[in-house]
Amino acid sequence: MSHKLGLIGYPLSHSFSPTYFAEKFKELNIQDSEYLAYSIDEIDKINEIFNLGVTGLNVTIPYKEQVIAFLDELSAEAAEIGAVNTIKVENSRKVGYNTDVYGFQASLLKQLGDVKIGKALILGSGGASKAVRFVLKNMGIDYKIVSRKKNYLNYLNLNNKIIQDHKLIVNTTPLGMYPHVDNCPSIPYEGLTEQHFLYDLVYNPEKTLFLMKGESAGSNIKNGNDMLVLQAEKSWEIWNQK
Ligand SMILES: NC(=O)c1ccc[n+]([C@@H]2O[C@H](COP(=O)([O-])OP(=O)(O)OC[C@H]3O[C@@H](n4cnc5c(N)ncnc54)[C@H](OP(=O)(O)O)[C@@H]3O)[C@@H](O)[C@H]2O)c1
Repeated sequence: MSHKLGLIGYPLSHSFSPTYFAEKFKELNIQDSEYLAYSIDEIDKINEIFNLGVTGLNVTIPYKEQVIAFLDELSAEAAEIGAVNTIKVENSRKVGYNTDVYGFQASLLKQLGDVKIGKALILGSGGASKAVRFVLKNMGIDYKIVSRKKNYLNYLNLNNKIIQDHKLIVNTTPLGMYPHVDNCPSIPYEGLTEQHFLYDLVYNPEKTLFLMKGESAGSNIKNGNDMLVLQAEKSWEIWNQK
């Protein structure tokens, strides 16, 4: 099966996926396929990319929600979350999927092992936060969203007691991402314990300041690297399904 694949987003600099799939084609000795980065400054330009005859696309910031208007069908997960990161084009029908869900769930299960988490805090209310919410809901973990926006728990209202009551804390904000490595979400880190699990969706740097603070408190930490690889593998599986 030959593939004409790509990634859309803006801006696209040093993206993970083009290198990942170039390596995959090499490993599997696939010579008639490509995975290109399409940096488009307006979502309407996706039509020019569809006209090139692509068979599949990944979608990244800032188009995961806007892209839905250009698709014919959504998977049940993508429809419920309202965000798409993978598109498959088959007989000119464009179907949207969300593989961040699979990537987050599989990597979280690996981090937690046998530990049952009662309550979680999700830092940030953007696109990735929606995928994280979907997974925690499915896993029966109660969560609160911490946000700068009204109608959510505000960072200023957090205290040690709230931190101690929520043993899983997931950072879905870009705070701490390279090159702003001195940033981290503003939470009372002194409330962290050895029973806490800190998960950062950021994967560059490998250990963000958020994770370093968790590590200092003896908490269990995980970065976004496994999720990144797992979501890419799930996209690959979807593109190869007959
Ligand atoms: N590992 C992976 O596979 C993977 C997958 C997807 C995303 N990610 C990473 O996850 C991060 C978020 O991606 P996204 O697509 O969800 O982006 P997004 O839609 O822009 O959402 C990010 C959210 O972070 C919060 N935020 C942004 N700037 C902030 C600031 N200065 N202070 C406090 N909060 C801030 C905002 O939430 P509020 O407005 O509610 O405060 C915003 O909605 C990125 O770093 C991305 O690389 C990783």
